[in-house]
Amino acid sequence: MRIGVLTGGGDCPGLNAVIRAVVRKGEGVYGHQFVGYRDGWRGPLTGDTVPLDTTAVRGILPRGGTILGSSRTNPYAAVDGLELIRRNLAADGVDALIAIGGEDTLGVAARLHADGVPVVGVPKTIDNDLSATDYTFGFDTAVNIATEAVDRLHTTAESHHRVLIVEVMGRHAGWIALHSGMAGGANVILIPERPFDFDKVCAFVESRFATHYAPIIVVAEGATPIAGTMMTKDAELDAFGHVRLQGIAAVLETEIRGRTGRDARATVLGHLQRGGTPSAFDRWLATRFGLHAVDAVHEGESGVMVALHGTRIDRVPLAEATSALKTVPAELYAEAAVFFG
Ligand code: F6P
Repeated sequence: MRIGVLTGGGDCPGLNAVIRAVVRKGEGVYGHQFVGYRDGWRGPLTGDTVPLDTTAVRGILPRGGTILGSSRTNPYAAVDGLELIRRNLAADGVDALIAIGGEDTLGVAARLHADGVPVVGVPKTIDNDLSATDYTFGFDTAVNIATEAVDRLHTTAESHHRVLIVEVMGRHAGWIALHSGMAGGANVILIPERPFDFDKVCAFVESRFATHYAPIIVVAEGATPIAGTMMTKDAELDAFGHVRLQGIAAVLETEIRGRTGRDARATVLGHLQRGGTPSAFDRWLATRFGLHAVDAVHEGESGVMVALHGTRIDRVPLAEATSALKTVPAELYAEAAVFFG
């Protein structure tokens, strides 16, 4: 077989580990050939390929980013997108695709499968918001980076008796905030799933000062006050209709200063959470996803995504995997809330 591989959407640590595992097993065990498509769905849409074999994947296991490049291209937003993809795959002699991506990239994969293009999906995103898998790779690395930031902010906050607010990514899901906030001993964690009350946040801040500690607030970029709206960086939408979220930490900084008179500072971690080398867990998960994805293609499967359930890797229908976002349930947030204030 000749198998096309692409990485779409926001990059995350572990993408290269998947590519390596797919190629090593596909070539070494099954004798298949591979074609890399550049920059997500833009590759098959425009016929932009890159050679992909065992030599090309040597040494990439610990490297962040993706050797294939990524983009948020939506081929269904283009005129004749489906036809162009069909034509380019035929011209490249590609029998099936492995698409490594999040909600948007895999949503396209689900539609392509329904339109008769053979495709298997691999779930990636630092947001961990895909409902059909226990974890996506990239998330663990992002949580470790955010936790290290919280640890570092504790010491400077205490030196200056300040409130430090850390804004983390996650879009409409609070997973990164929840895990890094719990791991870092945050004073309060604010997530999109639970609109917050400024007065309560200020009360938590004061009670932390009362015990001679400085409060660290971990806020997810999609978190909102009860009476307020989500903070967006600008009005621009991407090809899938998403806005860029940013700014809630700055709002909290102003409100906390105004309401408590305490010195407050905001830190936005931004793309630091997506860069650099993957954690050991993410390398392990990404490698296993890659092995199982190439097995699925080899067995003639299409329209499925590999998913982690406990320690087992299963195949789930792509349509089901992309139908609902996985958000933080109330009972997990309640566990974290024991430590607030
Ligand atoms: O989906 C991953 C993610 O990092 C989100 O957490 C974040 O909201 C978004 O991508 C940022 O997108 P961009 O890289 O286009 O700024």
